[in-house]
Amino acid sequence: MSTLFRTKSVEQSIKDTEVPEQSLKKSLSALDLTVFGVGVIIGTGIFVLTGKVAKETAGPATALAFVVAGAVCALAALCYAEFASTVPVAGSAYTFSYASLGELVAWIIGWDLVLEFALGTAVVAVGWSGYVRSLLDNIGWSMPEALSGPDAAQGFGFDILAFALVLVLTVVLVLGMKLSARVTTVVVAVKLVVVGIVIVAGLFFVKSANYKPFVPPAEPQPSGSGWDAPLVQLLFGYAPTNFGLMGIFTAASIVFFAFIGFDVVATAAEETRVPQRDMPRGILASLLICTLLYVAVSIVVTGMQHYTELSVSAPLADAFKAIGHPFYAGVISFGAAVGLTTVCLILLLGQTRVFFAMSRDGLLPRFFSKTHPRFGTPYRPTILLGVVIAIVAGVTSINELATLVNIGTLFAFVVVALGVIVLRRIRPDLHRAFRTPWVPLLPIVSVAASVWLMLNLPAETWLRFGVWMVIGVVIYLAYGRRNSGLAKAERR
Ligand code: ALA
Repeated sequence: MSTLFRTKSVEQSIKDTEVPEQSLKKSLSALDLTVFGVGVIIGTGIFVLTGKVAKETAGPATALAFVVAGAVCALAALCYAEFASTVPVAGSAYTFSYASLGELVAWIIGWDLVLEFALGTAVVAVGWSGYVRSLLDNIGWSMPEALSGPDAAQGFGFDILAFALVLVLTVVLVLGMKLSARVTTVVVAVKLVVVGIVIVAGLFFVKSANYKPFVPPAEPQPSGSGWDAPLVQLLFGYAPTNFGLMGIFTAASIVFFAFIGFDVVATAAEETRVPQRDMPRGILASLLICTLLYVAVSIVVTGMQHYTELSVSAPLADAFKAIGHPFYAGVISFGAAVGLTTVCLILLLGQTRVFFAMSRDGLLPRFFSKTHPRFGTPYRPTILLGVVIAIVAGVTSINELATLVNIGTLFAFVVVALGVIVLRRIRPDLHRAFRTPWVPLLPIVSVAASVWLMLNLPAETWLRFGVWMVIGVVIYLAYGRRNSGLAKAERR
């Protein structure tokens, strides 16, 4: 039993990163991290989900859903910042839990992050492919249905663009951090300009009548008595509804996807020059910028078009088409397509770094933790995961994946918040460059807030998540428990 709770000391985690063959280059500053954060955070969430959620779940109150989701993330960010600045080692929540909650929890969290990042990458690649197809349509080219993915095709559809995007980004990552950070900076600039255009240009077309009612009255969900209803409504025996007060929370649990990514910044701790100072700055700054932009965008878009009329596939661009400004619409579509590329890239990066850290600890075969002799990148997991994710992106539909990503991420938030409390108890001596305020109150509130959003996700999402986690525990018991570095050290 005790082996399940053995911890890897913080000092050991840091020492492992100093083995030359297994270490990553330290080249990132706080600004790089913020650019990184904004690069991954603004994506499919704001470009695609805003319209869908406003139309189906919350109306103009979608702006409030962004505030709710942003607040949940801010609480979690304060916990992440303490962990990331205390344990500056690749692997994010995975490494942090290894140092505090023990090997089993660390494995569970690592396995959970694999789900979050791999499926997140796939979701964004599919969203990207949709925007590119719409751009191609503009210039008179259209992709055959069979190559446009399962959502667009009648029968079998393979999303060739999403597949190709993930493969190209895999090559970029294998060639090294430097290149990807430079590409990221340019693309983040394009994305910010486009979001700025939506806010500033859109402001001139806002009609106050569109905000009435700001919180539309609750109405029964069309098919909402079964597994697709929010768990909280089923648990408490309500007939599932959209809109109204509860609709804001349902919406928040979906648009939460738009904030995913600030936790990925923490995965780059090992590659940061002064992690103790730069990591908390990078995480909190990128989260703040994104929250302000999301609230502004959702207020403007629901003011330009009545929520019942918003498009669900390209709402930001289509709102401009609807008011007779196709030029803006074209620019926005282009920027979205460019912007989603970085989101995909950084999620993929986070994914390979978690896998790398798990392999370095022996929880996954060590074959994967040898870095490339010339590029200094963990090329083996990058290539393996890149190919698998490319195929997943090619054959799966976007909707159900997004909620699964959300539940996995919220679960990680819960573990990290608990980890802050535990680590303060068992290692009060550790140097913490950034300290979460009001421990244990703030982490407890963070746990409650994350669980609340999880409860607002569909029951079927819980079921799928449960199945994935059970598979993970079986793999740990069969492989990691015996082969981990800690297990081997115990036997010696
Ligand atoms: N937050 C990222 C997005 O919205 C994952 O696409």
